[in-house]
Parts: sequence; structure tokens; C-alpha cells
Amino acid sequence: MFANVYKNRRVLITGHTGFKGTWLTAWLLSLGAKVAGFAVDIPSTPSAFTSLGLQSKINHTQADIRDSAAILRAVQEFKPHIIFHMAAQALVRPSYEDPGYTFETNAMGTLHLLEAVRQTPGVEAVVCITSDKCYRNDEWVWGYRERDHLGGEDPYSASKACAEIIAHSYFKSFFKQGPSMATVRAGNVIGGGDWAVDRIVPDCARAWAAGEPVVIRSPQATRPWQHVLEPLSGYLWLGALLATKAETPLPLNQESFNFGPAADVNATVAQVADALAPHWAGFAAEMDRNAVQGKKECTLLKLCCDKALAHLHWHATLPFTETIRYTAEWYRAFYKEGPKAEAEQGLEERMFAFTLGQIGAYAAAANKAGLAWAKE
Ligand SMILES: NC(=O)c1ccc[n+]([C@@H]2O[C@H](COP(=O)([O-])OP(=O)(O)OC[C@H]3O[C@@H](n4cnc5c(N)ncnc54)[C@H](O)[C@@H]3O)[C@@H](O)[C@H]2O)c1
Repeated sequence: MFANVYKNRRVLITGHTGFKGTWLTAWLLSLGAKVAGFAVDIPSTPSAFTSLGLQSKINHTQADIRDSAAILRAVQEFKPHIIFHMAAQALVRPSYEDPGYTFETNAMGTLHLLEAVRQTPGVEAVVCITSDKCYRNDEWVWGYRERDHLGGEDPYSASKACAEIIAHSYFKSFFKQGPSMATVRAGNVIGGGDWAVDRIVPDCARAWAAGEPVVIRSPQATRPWQHVLEPLSGYLWLGALLATKAETPLPLNQESFNFGPAADVNATVAQVADALAPHWAGFAAEMDRNAVQGKKECTLLKLCCDKALAHLHWHATLPFTETIRYTAEWYRAFYKEGPKAEAEQGLEERMFAFTLGQIGAYAAAANKAGLAWAKE
């Protein structure tokens, strides 16, 4: 997998305690990487990071990326070969409540990380994770391409556009001789182990575990849902190719890539809840299927992923039904012993093994689909 590039390489993940960071940490550990993580907190309770017992398996630093000295120290001490930067205030609604924190973390945090990289020899590759929301949303029916205008309206989206501009400035101004670097933009991901507030799957999982009906806001909001492992496979493949300066038909360095599902994989929030329901006994959702949204959040945004297909031979693998099945099964495994699952003896080993099992099954499906990254 990933041409064996990660075996014994030092990999730093910022935001490793979050939803995507946890899956990326587990995947990298299974690939034989030496992993370090930098994050300000463990952002939810329960938390997949804790439930998998990852803290004891990696070099874990709890610090704030707004603190430039802290991230510089972490990079200089660990001397990573490859960095995945995903530390962020990652939600739209809190960004309206605290735009300052959102911009400082997402924009200035990116600057602090890249400045640390600039001062640290030996870094081979940086993959900077922003968002599909970095694009100016023109409410088009077709997918956004990497050359389309940046500029989200809400503070979260705008801060991700800022992070893109900062990263491109560092490409052009400081990283001509290396390290190799790219920015990556993905949309809404779902999967087991997310307990963030204001996200549909965690809201459903929490309610299901408590035996209460979930109240769904914005049931008609449409998103290009994909399983968390889909964009992570793209980030990992891009990181591997950048780090090894692989000869590819089209350039990867200093580029941006979209990672999303096929254009026809769009479902409403209501459809996600309806698809989860048969997997969870007793699950009930309360929603006004005609409801309109409250605070302004863009309703339609899809990505054109032709560039990832052409440059990386990457495409998403799982149909929507499989994405839902993987997701529901993870939470079912977690809540095996009921709502107090966190206290279960042996939970960490069991959930770490279960999570690696899902990663293995996903990689096998991708291998069967002929994806280059998944080749054994
Ligand atoms: N989850 C999605 O659907 C989605 C969609 C598009 C883009 N993204 C992006 O992917 C990345 C990961 O998202 P996620 O869903 O795992 O987010 P998350 O909220 O689950 O985790 C965020 C991580 O960032 C860390 N963090 C937050 N503020 C920090 C600070 N000031 N200093 C250091 N660390 C800080 C947290 O501790 C945590 O580890 C983010 O950059 C996010 O914007 C996520």
C-alpha cells in the first residue's frame, strides 16, 4: 500500500486527535510509520482518539497552533519527513460565534506550521488540508475545480481560503527547493468515531446510543458525503508521491487537489438519517422535511475530482450504501456494551483492531477497483 513509503518514516499530523486525524493516525501506524501528533485538545467526549488508545502509541503533543514557538519546537524536535496539517477549528457554526479564534487557528496556524517547516531541514513533503468550503460558492450545479475562485463567506470557509493563499505564498516564496507541498480540498466526511457537535452522523449516533429520537436541522441540505477513508487515501497517496519525488505524468508539487465522491453521490441530511436507521435498532429521527436553514451556510457545493483522477489515478471507491454501512457498523461495535461503552475493559484494543479491520477492508475494495495506492 502507498508503495511502502510510510514504513519507518516520521510523520507529523497536526489535529491528530480529531475525527480525520484519528483515522489517519491509525492508518499510518498500520503502515509502520513513526507518528507524532500536535493538537490543542481532544475535541469530544467520547473520542475515537481515546477509544483507540492512540496516545500511548504515538509521540503526542498537546499545544496550540496559534503559539508559533510551540509548533516550531514540535517540528524541530520530531524532525518529520512528512507532515499532514489538519489542525483547525473545523465547524461553521462556532466560526460565527468566535471568528477570531477560527481565523487565528486556521489561517495563522497554517502560517506558523509552514514557518516551522521553513526553519527545519529534512522535511520531504507537506500536505495541507483545507476544505471544499475554501471555494467561493457560486451555487453552481457543476463541481468546483482547483482553479476556481477561492473565498467562502462564513468565517470558517473564509479562513480555509486564507489557509490556501498562505500555503501558495509559501510554495512560491520559500519552498522552491523543497519540501514538496500540496493543498487538498475535500467535502463532508462521515465514518465511525466522529462525535463533533452539529454534524449529522454524530448527532444520530448520540441519540441512538441514548435511546432518544434525533432532532435533525436542515434535513434538505445536500452534501457530497464520503467515507473518511476516501479522502485520507488521497492525502496519503499524494504525501507518498510528493515525499519520494515520484515521476508522475503531471506535476504534483505546489498543486491543489480535490478529493470527493462521484458527481452523482449527493444525498440530503434526511437521506443520511434514513439510510442509517435500518442499521440501528430503535433509531428514530424527528425532522421537518421541508425545513429551511437558520444561519447562512451554503447548501450546494460539489467538487470536480478529475485532476486527482488524472494526476494520481485516485477516485472514490465506496458507494453511498457502503459508506453508511461502514459508519453504522463502527458505532455498533463501539456501543456493544451500551451507552457507557467508554468504561468497557479492553475497549481500546478492541476498537483499535476493529478500526484497522475497516481500513483493511476499504484498502482491499480499493485494490479490487484497481487503484494504484492500494496495490500490495
Ligand atoms: N470533517 C469534515 O467533514 C471536514 C470537511 C472538510 C474539511 N475538513 C478539514 O479536515 C481537518 C480535520 O477535520 P476534523 O473533522 O477531523 O476536525 P475535528 O474538529 O474533529 O478535529 C480538529 C483537530 O484540530 C485540533 N485543533 C483545533 N484547534 C486547534 C489549535 N488552536 N491548535 C492546535 N490544534 C487545534 C483539535 O484538537 C483536533 O485535533 C480540518 O482542517 C477540517 O477543516 C473536515
